[in-house]
Amino acid sequence: MAWKDDERGKGRGGLLAVVLFLSLLPTAAKGDEWTEPITPLPQTLLLDPGKVALGERLFSDPRLSGDGTVSCATCHSLDTAGVDRAIVSTGVGGAKGSVNAPTVFNSGFNFKQFWDGRAATLEEQVAGPIHNPLEMNSSWGPLISRLKGDGELVATVRKLYGADLTPAVVQDAIATFERSLVTPDARFDRYLRGDGAALDGREKRGYVLFREYGCVSCHQGVNVGGNMFQVFGVMGDYFRDRGGETKADQGRYNVTKREEDRHVFKVPSLRNVALTPPYFHDGSAATLERAVEVMARYQLGRRLAADEEGALVAFLRSLTGTWRGRPLR
Ligand code: HEC
Ligand code: HEC
Repeated sequence: MAWKDDERGKGRGGLLAVVLFLSLLPTAAKGDEWTEPITPLPQTLLLDPGKVALGERLFSDPRLSGDGTVSCATCHSLDTAGVDRAIVSTGVGGAKGSVNAPTVFNSGFNFKQFWDGRAATLEEQVAGPIHNPLEMNSSWGPLISRLKGDGELVATVRKLYGADLTPAVVQDAIATFERSLVTPDARFDRYLRGDGAALDGREKRGYVLFREYGCVSCHQGVNVGGNMFQVFGVMGDYFRDRGGETKADQGRYNVTKREEDRHVFKVPSLRNVALTPPYFHDGSAATLERAVEVMARYQLGRRLAADEEGALVAFLRSLTGTWRGRPLR
């Protein structure tokens, strides 16, 4: 596997933190003697409600885009699990992007943002789509002056931040809102908390396979992913087999220009994954079944039997959580 020293450190640190955290919890799922490599999402959050509300407004505000037509929510609709369910997204003037849009739900738990990890924080991430000519095609100068024309908004910012409306305020408010996009109480989380009846037999078998076949060596921690980089194609050349290699397919190589980072991507979170097709950075897998088959083949060198694939998919479907008290959809 193309582990890199610094990143392996991070992956292990994450796992260690998970193990320590687990030792403080009551024993999960009676009768199981392994230490759970996945932890439930938190049920409560400590965030400033005023800043969350401001961030929520800005998230859906098309004034953030160059021509006033596109907001963050255009591609990350909260009514469709924080994604657009398109292979690639459509930005201002119908421009098509080069990769599939990941969800914003639970993005606060990812160790880096974007498929190639080029943004270290959610705050930093915000500047990306705003400046991207294929997404919002704007820039801070005109954006801030547009927003400053809104006296009510300026007053709200002054009250919450004791300061003027600046790019840093926009970034902080949107990032704070995103940190509130947590989806607790998936059936799988209830199972981890000790409710053995929350999963049926097939889903439990799926979780056993997920661990035993080694999916969990990459998809782990509170977000079932999002805590390390890995090469796409550990056990086979995914890109040669798919054909038509693009710049985006180079993954983290585009950020570091190091040969060992070619085809390396952030391992995505699998939370709510049943609701976020199509899959992979290239949006090439239309169904969860197909995504699981590709993963087994290219990451683990396995051909799954139909019942194994079905069990793994059933387990992944149990990772759908709730938001504001309702099942995510
Ligand atoms: C035109 C569609 C589009 C718009 C508008 C858009 N995004 Fe995205 N978003 C994407 C795509 C595509 C990616 C993946 C890009 C990549 O990884 O290179 C992404 C990635 C992200 C990520 C990283 C998630 C992860 O798991 O890595 C976050 C967070 C995010 N967007 C938030 C926002 C916010 C906040 C805004 C508004 C300021 C916004 N997006 C506007 C399409 C869009
Ligand atoms: C060696 C690390 C590794 C292993 C093992 C692994 N994955 Fe992945 N997984 C990844 C990476 C990296 C991606 C993102 C690939 C891309 O699109 O560039 C991914 C993507 C996915 C996706 C698509 C998620 C999305 O939102 O697009 C699913 C579903 C998935 N994996 C499930 C599994 C299952 C099930 C297994 C076990 C059969 C597994 N993975 C094993 C690293 C791994």
